[in-house]
Amino acid sequence: MIQIHSSVCRFVLSVIYNRVKIFTETFILRGRGSDFGDLVQIKKQLISVISLCKERGLLHSAKASELAFALDPLPKDELPPSAPFTEEDAQDLDALTLAKSYFDLKEYDRAAYFLKGCCSQKAYFLYMYSRYLSGEKKKDDETVDSLGPLEKGQVRNEALRELRVELSKKHNAGELDGFTLYLYGVVLRKLDLLKEAVDVFVEAIHTLPLHWGAWLELSNLVTNIEMLKSLSLPDCWIKDFFMAHMYTELQMIKEALQKYQNLIEAGFSKSTYIISQIAVAYHNIRDIDQALTLFNELRDQDPYRIDNMDTFSNLLYVKSMKPELSYLAHNLVEIDKYRVETCCVIGNYYSLRSQHEKAALYFQRALKLNPRCLGAWTLMGHEYMEMKNTSAAIQAYRHAIEVNKRDYRAWYGLGQTYEILKMPFYCLYYYRKAHQLRPNDSRMLVALGESYEKLSQQVEAKKCYWRAYSVGDVEKMALLKLAKLHEQLNESDDAAQCYMLYIQDIFSCGEQLEHAEVSTALRYLGQYYFKNKLYDEASLCAQRCCDYNDAREEGKALLRQISQVRDQIETPSADLFAPLSNNNTPVRRVSPLNLISFTP
Ligand SMILES: *[C@@H]1O[C@H](CO)[C@@H](O)[C@H](O)[C@H]1NC(C)=O
Ligand SMILES: *[C@@H]1O[C@H](CO)[C@@H](O)[C@H](O)[C@H]1NC(C)=O
Ligand SMILES: *[C@@H]1O[C@H](CO)[C@@H](O)[C@H](O)[C@H]1NC(C)=O
Repeated sequence: MIQIHSSVCRFVLSVIYNRVKIFTETFILRGRGSDFGDLVQIKKQLISVISLCKERGLLHSAKASELAFALDPLPKDELPPSAPFTEEDAQDLDALTLAKSYFDLKEYDRAAYFLKGCCSQKAYFLYMYSRYLSGEKKKDDETVDSLGPLEKGQVRNEALRELRVELSKKHNAGELDGFTLYLYGVVLRKLDLLKEAVDVFVEAIHTLPLHWGAWLELSNLVTNIEMLKSLSLPDCWIKDFFMAHMYTELQMIKEALQKYQNLIEAGFSKSTYIISQIAVAYHNIRDIDQALTLFNELRDQDPYRIDNMDTFSNLLYVKSMKPELSYLAHNLVEIDKYRVETCCVIGNYYSLRSQHEKAALYFQRALKLNPRCLGAWTLMGHEYMEMKNTSAAIQAYRHAIEVNKRDYRAWYGLGQTYEILKMPFYCLYYYRKAHQLRPNDSRMLVALGESYEKLSQQVEAKKCYWRAYSVGDVEKMALLKLAKLHEQLNESDDAAQCYMLYIQDIFSCGEQLEHAEVSTALRYLGQYYFKNKLYDEASLCAQRCCDYNDAREEGKALLRQISQVRDQIETPSADLFAPLSNNNTPVRRVSPLNLISFTP
């Protein structure tokens, strides 16, 4: 017991004094840097870091509070001691108390004024942070005053340059603690000095691993898995949360779900944060039913939650669940109508009712509230697409990509707009980007295939369609397109194979698809077998054709032809599946007699 207690004291001390050495030592002492064996320790660390963040006006501590809340309460004598107080802290106490009140009232210049000349680390952070936020606030006010949402992002925070100069001096002198390092990173990122920002965030994380805000900032700068692997990160339990978050962001959903599962088993099963993250992960792999279940559970546990509800509404939208979406929208309006998420939900609500102008208006409102809201830019792009306003759509998608280069929906949206504008080279470029971000998403592959086809690159197009089928074609379009392409190129054996697979695929998915073209496939197959003198198969297809209005006449005609030929000669059935030559699509063997079991 005593030992644990002293290690907590050391942990708190190290946080205060920013001594990297003591900090790592603390973890080594306990011998379990990234292990969840001791939830009591974790809870203590969380409680300590929450209070440190609060003193500094850092709002990211909310996430830590959510996690702490998910763990069992500590008995009174297990609570971590409050941070030790230095001589400098005592000196700055009055100024700091005064300034923090102004800070909380969003009077940042006033706060900074009274903190100038303070010498404690805490006061220095609040001093710099106030100046930063003052610049941000002025920038936002400026933007709201002068411009519509489409021109956002061009006004700068004027304080950034000065802050960078001062922080960089202190950084070189090794005088920054975990929190000021974090602020330095934010300043660098805002100045688009991304490489430097990454290095500083990594340093901040090493100095103060429990500050989730720094991890989160870093996550926004990691563009791919190679970069993630190349980062040297401290071996702390919070890294598992970061990796899970990163995997979700990088669309490595299987890995993400595994990580979250581990976290749940490690004792965070009550965490609303984790439930919401898993729901988002399922949303990303389009496992819509799972995601909906989790979001409903989240609403049960945390009914006044607004975070992530925009994602929830995307799901309701995709499922066309009008009453549920309407209920959610009304509910959120009651809780807080001026939240970005609320505006997005209302936008989705109007979009589902085909009131696209109103929908765009609400996405615009979301962007007024937060110009860096990625989802709103993309959704607004979609609304402009619905209104056939391609130039506005392109602008909206471009803004989305500015905010986050990993947003495949925005890249895909750009591809679609250029498709409408009949500019296939651009279109190909954007679909390729989307495909790189979602290599296993059939929708990107089909779009890519169509672009190649328009550019007469049939070989590439065939590869894309086949791959779309192989990764699990959600829209069941790829095989049909591949078959038609083979048909155009007079590759009749391949075309027949694809049509056959297509029919199988359509019937095996169980639901009625509106766009299904089974009759097209049957018609082709009937003729194909007939030409190859396989009259049994041809006759089967012809009979099936008669089930479809648009193929009935052709089916009957083929049946007549077959009986005529049969009357003349009796031909033994040849081997239909002699090896096929000249194709780059792997071929599966399917017996046409399987068709018997299909009932439309
Ligand atoms: C497209 O949308 C923008 C922004 O709302 C608007 O200014 C412009 O007039 C629209 N263009 C057309 C052709 O509707
Ligand atoms: C895509 O699928 C392949 C094989 O099925 C797998 O190896 C790869 O990791 C997947 N990529 C992503 C980003 O999910
Ligand atoms: C396919 O065959 C038809 C008829 O024999 C011919 O007119 C057409 O040019 C051929 N198309 C290709 C791409 O070879």
